[in-house]
Amino acid sequence: MSKNTIKWTKRDKLKTKPDESTLPFGKIFTDYMMKMRYEAGSGWSDPEIVPYGPIELDPAAMVLHYGQTVFEGLKAYRNENGDVQLFRPEENMKRMNRSHRRMSIPEFDGETVLKALSQLIDIEKDWVPSVEGTSLYVRPFVISTQTHLAVHPSDSYEFYIILSPVGSYYPEGINPVKIQVEDEFTRAVKGGTGTAKTGGNYSAGYNAQEKASKSGHAQVLWLDAIEKQYIEEVGSMNVFFKINGEIVTPALSGSILEGVTRKSIIELLHSWEIPVMERKISIQELIQAQKNGTLEEAFGAGTAAVVSPIGSFTYKGVAYKVQDGETGSLTKKLYDTVTGIQTGKLDDPFGWTKVI
Ligand code: COI
Repeated sequence: MSKNTIKWTKRDKLKTKPDESTLPFGKIFTDYMMKMRYEAGSGWSDPEIVPYGPIELDPAAMVLHYGQTVFEGLKAYRNENGDVQLFRPEENMKRMNRSHRRMSIPEFDGETVLKALSQLIDIEKDWVPSVEGTSLYVRPFVISTQTHLAVHPSDSYEFYIILSPVGSYYPEGINPVKIQVEDEFTRAVKGGTGTAKTGGNYSAGYNAQEKASKSGHAQVLWLDAIEKQYIEEVGSMNVFFKINGEIVTPALSGSILEGVTRKSIIELLHSWEIPVMERKISIQELIQAQKNGTLEEAFGAGTAAVVSPIGSFTYKGVAYKVQDGETGSLTKKLYDTVTGIQTGKLDDPFGWTKVI
């Protein structure tokens, strides 16, 4: 990927790198971050690279009151040659601008930000881990900074990219998890912000997640807001089922996030000539398929966990096992193929990876 040479303010002392074999998710951050500002009338500034550190915000900054904010998540991997590569970063830039539009935040030039990201990762390349299952998680985010308590879009913003060397997102790794179908709280509603990657969508799920954890479930299976019948997402991931040989995933109805991993899995399955249906799927259909033995596999798909098998789902107090609680063979093949392409262990016939 081409890099710009942008302004870089160096820090006096670099941090000590962590042990790659025990990396948590999202708790350790590198030495530098990317920053750019937006001011009404002048537009987005040039990006610059500055030492990673606290952000100074006025207590009346609008993001603290009305949550006008957007984030993204993507990963950089060390490939077999020792080079660093990103997975479909242009998809994240496009989705981030879609989220900006939904949240009334001015759009930015994706190419400019990707060039700045390349330079940031190049500077931080020694932070990219190489132990299996690890990566450098890239977290772009934007916050509204105007100091005003009136309710309207901000006239100023700050855009950052921070980097975190990470291990697996869920302690279960690629082992199947128990999930609970949530029939009280809602994640998102059509016409709302469910398709945008904005913080409130995630914190709105905490109470349901707490309920699920208390009853021994790892995650929540979200249903649609109106009929409480149709499956939408699992935890913070898209969801797939293999029913009677066919792969089914909820259609993008207006309240589901357009996952980059979701899109990649659909494209992979098409290339393997495995039928994929993007359609509505109700909880009753899922229970029926489980009962008549045609529910063969179920898994979540997202950037953080990549592919996460579902071992059972609980609906109204009744637990239904999927595939005897084991990881299905297609789920495993998808995990191995997506991570294989991401890390450069497998060929990338789709041109998804971008070497820095
Ligand atoms: C993802 O896996 O795609 C996510 O959005 C999880 C992230 C919020 C940690």
